[in-house]
This record gives sequence, structure tokens and C-alpha cells, in this order.
Amino acid sequence: MSLKLVTAPTPATILVVDDEPSMRRYLQTVLEVDSHRVLTAASGPEAIERVQAGPPPDLVLLDLVMEPLDGLQTLERLHQLRPGMKVVMLSCVSDTRKVVQAIRLGAQDYLTKPFQKAELDAVLNHCLSQAPLPPEFEGQTGEVEELSDDLFFVAASPAMRKIREQVDQVVNVNVPVLMLGESGTGKEVVARLIHKLSPRSHRTFLKVNCAALPADLLESELFGYEAGAFTGATRAKPGKFELCDKGTILLDEIGEMPPALQAKLLHVLQDQQFSRLGSRSVVNVDVRILAATNVDIQQAIASKKLREDLYYRLNAFTLHLPPLRERREEIPLLIRHFMGLFAARYGRTPLPISPNLIEACVRYSWPGNLRELENFVKRYLILGDENLVLSELEAAREASLGGDTSSSGAPPKTDPQDLKSLVRSLKDEAEMEAIKRTLERTKWNRKEAARLLKISYKALLYKIRQYNIDRP
Ligand SMILES: Nc1ncnc2c1ncn2[C@@H]1O[C@H](COP(=O)(O)OP(=O)(O)OP(=O)(O)O)[C@@H](O)[C@H]1O
Ligand SMILES: [Mg+2]
Repeated sequence: MSLKLVTAPTPATILVVDDEPSMRRYLQTVLEVDSHRVLTAASGPEAIERVQAGPPPDLVLLDLVMEPLDGLQTLERLHQLRPGMKVVMLSCVSDTRKVVQAIRLGAQDYLTKPFQKAELDAVLNHCLSQAPLPPEFEGQTGEVEELSDDLFFVAASPAMRKIREQVDQVVNVNVPVLMLGESGTGKEVVARLIHKLSPRSHRTFLKVNCAALPADLLESELFGYEAGAFTGATRAKPGKFELCDKGTILLDEIGEMPPALQAKLLHVLQDQQFSRLGSRSVVNVDVRILAATNVDIQQAIASKKLREDLYYRLNAFTLHLPPLRERREEIPLLIRHFMGLFAARYGRTPLPISPNLIEACVRYSWPGNLRELENFVKRYLILGDENLVLSELEAAREASLGGDTSSSGAPPKTDPQDLKSLVRSLKDEAEMEAIKRTLERTKWNRKEAARLLKISYKALLYKIRQYNIDRP
């Protein structure tokens, strides 16, 4: 928190919740000097009562460590009562984990005790000047499930709750599950969730990216080989199917699997049997097969990229992961979740998440879905400059409007499997090529390239990053 000269904030009603009388007195005095109206409470339950009884305060200063309800529990209850209420946590240096949780739960900012008056003023100024969130995004709660130390499944929208229910229906039945959805919508997360909730959870989960390897390598990777099966195969090696016996395998980007291998896979699906390369004996395995793809499945079948019989085997149960722009109501919760997660991962204190920031994020269309949102939050955490990341987001929005004037920041609802997503990916490719060519032409003079491309300089910078275009 920088200690620039801060003017006293506009007078507001502030509820101070702290079990230490001296802290309450100190805050009451300094706040009243600045003409704020101050209410106090010595415990969580008392604070809840006050908020229930009277008109809600403009802001709550809430101690983290209290009895019988601690600051986190109190925060949750306050937000249930008054969704969107602005709360600033009062913490101690050792409470980092709890601060992370508080931000995740919707606290707007925090102060570390002991703090100076200038720090208090800066935080109050910032919080009180922010417009409240639009009502539809207030008080948004959702389920957060931990899949492993660093991986979570968040579901807060009706669409994702439905997915969560569908997952429950399939976890105990050993049928293949096909996950469809644009890139970054969470197909792999859902696959891991299925494995974790299934009776196989204590066994291996493996992911194989079918697009990453050439056909013969992918075959030996999946099915293994005997010594002498091909030049260089000095020793026998089991494949992923064998390593995954009694476990779960995720065949990622199944639409890219070479057709010859698709036939072999079909066989595994039918008989749970296969042979290693160079072997005549069969191996029996009990592997649960999950598959995922972001390509248009009907088109992949029509163009014979995906075998129809394999498709019918795989799609016993299909989960359609909706793009983030079709579940915008989850965005505030996801931002808080990612902020907490990355703050913990990188050992940083989480940054405040202002209503301005949330609103801009809710308006943006996130073509890269949750992965893009994740990167946005990471960038904000690392750069620490809200205005900067917001202007980048605006540039990204402008850039996406450049090619498609119909979308005005809120693209029309589209089925991820339809023609539009195909057109979009082709458009992206064409756009990237055009940018590369123009940059070559202008010898990487980006101002000139932006002028030629008729987009703003900021939009060009964004696109260079988005497409990972490197200077030769
Ligand atoms: N429901 C969710 N809750 C929390 N985090 C999520 C959720 N869905 C996705 N993520 C996060 O977003 C990122 C992208 O998710 P994931 O890798 O599952 O997407 P994907 O659909 O498999 O994308 P691709 O098609 O590009 O492989 C991951 O870092 C993941 O942790
Ligand atoms: Mg994936």
C-alpha cells in the first residue's frame, strides 16, 4: 500500500468490529475526527445483529481473530444478510492464509495491524469511492471443491451446477464420458473431478494429449511395446493403458487422434483388451476412459477425422462445458478464487478486487475462457496496478470488436459446437498471419503496423501477446 498524500474520504457510516476495546476506541476516534459516523461491535454476533437491525453501514472494518465467530465466519454471515456489503479485514502479519480466504469470500481489502492513519485513509478512500456492484452480481456464492493441492472446481452458475449434478450421476458408473467445450472451459478439471469422486480415486489418473504426438509415438505411448518392436526399442515398456489399470485415463483432444489408432482404441473400449506393439499376446485392462475435445465434433465426424463408431462408443455420456461468456455470473467468484489461489501459490498478499474491476471483467467476453481469466488475475497480482490491467482488458475488448462488429462486448449466445466457433478459430489464424506479415513489412515498427492494420496501438500490443508472436 503506497503512502501518498491522501485526502480524508467523504463521511460515511462505518461499523467497527473488534474484540479489543483499545482498537475499537482508536478507530472510533480517528474516524470521527474525519466526520464519519461510527458504530462499534465487540464480536461477530453483535455485528450481525447490528446489520440485521438497522440500515446497513457503508463499510465494515472487521477483525479476523475473534471468538466465538471469527472474522471469516462473520464475513460470510454479513454477506448472506447484505450481499455486496463492503468489508475491510483487520489482520495481523501472521494471518496471510486467512486474508487470502477473506478475499476469496468477498472482502474488499485488508489492513495489517498496526497500521497508520494514512494507510487507513487510503483503504477507506479506495473502498468508499467504488460504486457498488450491480445487484445481479452481488452476494454470489458457489461451490468450491478442492481436487488437489493446487486445483479446484468452482461451480456457481446454474449451468455449472447442472454439470456438477451430471458428474454425480456418472461417477459410480463405469461408462466413458465425453467432454466438449471451447478451449479453457474446464474440460480437464471436470475429468479430474470425475476421477476424484469415483471409486477409482486412489488409483492413477493419466492424461494423454492425442494432438501432441505423431501417430506411431502416440501408439507406443498408449499401448506400450515389446523389446525389438521397432528400431530403438531395446527394452519392453508398458503403455499408459497398462499404467492406468484400475484407474482413469483422459484422452485429450480426441478429435486429433490418428484414424488407425482410433480403431485400436475402439477395440479397448469394446473388450478392455489390446496388444503391445510387437506382441501377439493380449493385455487385459480395466481403465475408465474419459475423452475431451474442443473441435466441432459433428464436423470432425463428417470430415472423417473422427470415426463415427468410436464417437458412439465415447459419447455414452456427454458433458457440454459452457463458455465463460455464457456463465458471466460466475466471474466475480472466479476472480476472488483465482486471486486467493495465486496469492497463496506465489506467497503474495492478495490485491483488492474492486467493483470496477469486477464490472469490467463481467462485461468482457473471455474468448480464452477460464484460462484467460486466470492469466488476467495472475497479471494483476504481479503488476499490482488495477488501472493498467483494466486498460489492457479494454484493449483486448477493442481488439475483439475489430473483427466482429456484431458482438459489442456481449457476444450472442452460441453453441460451442456450431459454425461460429469454427469461423472464429479460422479468423484468429488469419488475423495472426496478417499481423505477422505486417510486422515483417514494417520491420517490427508496431505503431506503423497498427496504422496499416487499422487497429489501435494498444490493441496490436495485446494481440501480439495473445498470439505469442515473437520478434525474429
Ligand atoms: N470450474 C472451474 N473451477 C476452477 N478452475 C477452473 C474451472 N474450470 C477451469 N478452471 C481452470 O481454468 C484453466 C483451464 O481449465 P482446463 O485445462 O480444464 O480447460 P480445458 O477445457 O481442458 O482447455 P483446453 O481445451 O485448452 O485443454 C485451468 O487452470 C483450470 O484450473
Ligand atoms: Mg485441456
